[in-house]
Amino acid sequence: MLELDPARLREIAASDRPLAPSECAERARLAAALIEPGRLDRAGPGEAVLLWRDEHSEAWLNLWWQPRDTGYHDHAGSGVGVCVIEGRAWNEPLTIGEPPQAREYGPGETFWFPGEGIHRMDHQAGAITIHVYSPPIRAIGHYDLDCGQLRRTHGLPDQPSPPSTALYAALHPPAGA
Ligand SMILES: [Fe+2]
Repeated sequence: MLELDPARLREIAASDRPLAPSECAERARLAAALIEPGRLDRAGPGEAVLLWRDEHSEAWLNLWWQPRDTGYHDHAGSGVGVCVIEGRAWNEPLTIGEPPQAREYGPGETFWFPGEGIHRMDHQAGAITIHVYSPPIRAIGHYDLDCGQLRRTHGLPDQPSPPSTALYAALHPPAGA
């Protein structure tokens, strides 16, 4: 199973203030260097392993053994930095009046997203990512349409958000429509 040096993780996390999203991405990259993908247990649907949570940030190792669409969501003010270790992940900020802007990331690539933003992510089956949030997540807001009206549903920080089926369809009309 996963054995990581807690002192090294504390060193990576160490800060006397909240981290900017770009700093979260840098720390995700540093933590990713500690993971040996070949040693991970690939049984089961996948899981999220908490690497650290302190006053200013928290970090999760996400094992996506099944494809996962997070739906559109916010992190209630927490910025996020992501590092992809294995497989592919796509980040799509919610856009209105602009074409969808999903961007693909592969092994060794990082990106970050501001705490004020709303986004969704797709993860390929077999993808491994590290997400660092600052400040630690207090809540998740999930977005979808109810009869064409945008609704935000409050979720707990550790509750996976479901796909945004209606909102996704509205923002990705079939070509030629
Ligand atoms: Fe997110």
